[in-house]
Amino acid sequence: MKTIVAIIDAGGRGAALVDAYAKSPKVDEIIAIPGNDLMHINTNKPVHIYPQLKTTSKEEILKICQEFQVSLINVTQDNAVEAGVSDLLRQNGFKVVGASHSVGRIEWDKAWSRDFMSKNFLPIPSYKVCSHQEEGIQFLRTQKDQAWFIKAAGLAEGKGVIPARNNMEAEVAIEEMAKFGTAGQTFLIEQALIGEEFSAFVVSDGNSFQFMGAAQDHKRAFDNDEGPNTGGMGCSSPPLVIDANIQTQIDEIFEKTFEGLKKENLPYQGVLYLGGIVVTEGNLKKVYIIEFNARWGDPEIECIMPGIHNDIYEIGLLINEGKLNQTQIQYDGRARIVVAACSLGYPEDYSKVKGKEIVGLNKLIQEPGVRVYGSGTKVVDGRYIANGGRLFYVVAEGKDVLEAREKAYRALEKVSIPGENGEDLLHYRKDIGYRDVKRVTDFSS
Ligand code: GLY
Repeated sequence: MKTIVAIIDAGGRGAALVDAYAKSPKVDEIIAIPGNDLMHINTNKPVHIYPQLKTTSKEEILKICQEFQVSLINVTQDNAVEAGVSDLLRQNGFKVVGASHSVGRIEWDKAWSRDFMSKNFLPIPSYKVCSHQEEGIQFLRTQKDQAWFIKAAGLAEGKGVIPARNNMEAEVAIEEMAKFGTAGQTFLIEQALIGEEFSAFVVSDGNSFQFMGAAQDHKRAFDNDEGPNTGGMGCSSPPLVIDANIQTQIDEIFEKTFEGLKKENLPYQGVLYLGGIVVTEGNLKKVYIIEFNARWGDPEIECIMPGIHNDIYEIGLLINEGKLNQTQIQYDGRARIVVAACSLGYPEDYSKVKGKEIVGLNKLIQEPGVRVYGSGTKVVDGRYIANGGRLFYVVAEGKDVLEAREKAYRALEKVSIPGENGEDLLHYRKDIGYRDVKRVTDFSS
């Protein structure tokens, strides 16, 4: 009988997982729901996609998994976790890597999540949970003028956090929470910390956990961290801000978090994502938690997963058996950069790019030394067509971030989306990894 793995994801994160599972000699075929048209490009193994479905199409996902008798399912999208896709599949006897609805609350209910962190004495900025606008505005009027983050408590496609430079901007941001509908009905007012952000990942079987790597995301649309927040414009890994001291603090945060979840009777079988920030306090560097997510980060996974040596299918089985402590995650020690290639205008209006041809992508996919993971790209009559905000990701590796960056950007020169009057409608940041590029350059000069 064939061994078939299902991945519940549509974008680059799912594509990185397809690539990782396909490397396992034990896996014969992969199903990606919904997947995308580029899911198959890094493997010769069959990859089936279901573009008509959503990651939350619970009953249809169950039916497909039953029909194919899949051996393991990876649920890795926030909406799917909230919708209880993992729960339904487990109830039907399937092996699943992915948080249940209840424990996924650590991501989909940011008010509950902050209260949980506070109760467990985890390092967090000061915050206030508000259930209506007036409450937030009255609270702000008792506070000194300062920078804040106003956060929708529910899931808002990664766009639910509005930075405010002062109390006045925070009042406007509170009014904007209404645009997130029910996700913004309850919101948080959080002290804005100043420091360097990172994303760290562990995998847990409910008994123990193991570190799966870290990356540094670049969330703003333009170079120098300017412009609107996006789902992520690129990452570098491993982030050099994580030295031994920071790693110890990260490990302690995860320890305490899993202890806290156990006390709440919330076993965790899947990937837990710490969005952290390193803040300088006098001579000390201290890690604070910005948020937890109940899944892999996108595009973080695209530059972490290719460096993991382990058979990811075996890891999935060990998670389901509660035997994760029988293995040790191992890395290749290489530096990696991932650059998100986007439609010009993303994350706002990019409608003029939709339907345009991505020229040169066929060459880029063949380019040695880089990997392409698809997202909002369609294949029509053998041509690659823009069909979303983040179109595809280019991943390159090197002995250090300089080498990886050079390879990624050299490869990207091969691609364009020709628009009117010679305009290139392909947009990507040109400074991914800039913090570590500076560190490495300063160190060697
Ligand atoms: N890279 C940000 C996220 O996955 O939420």
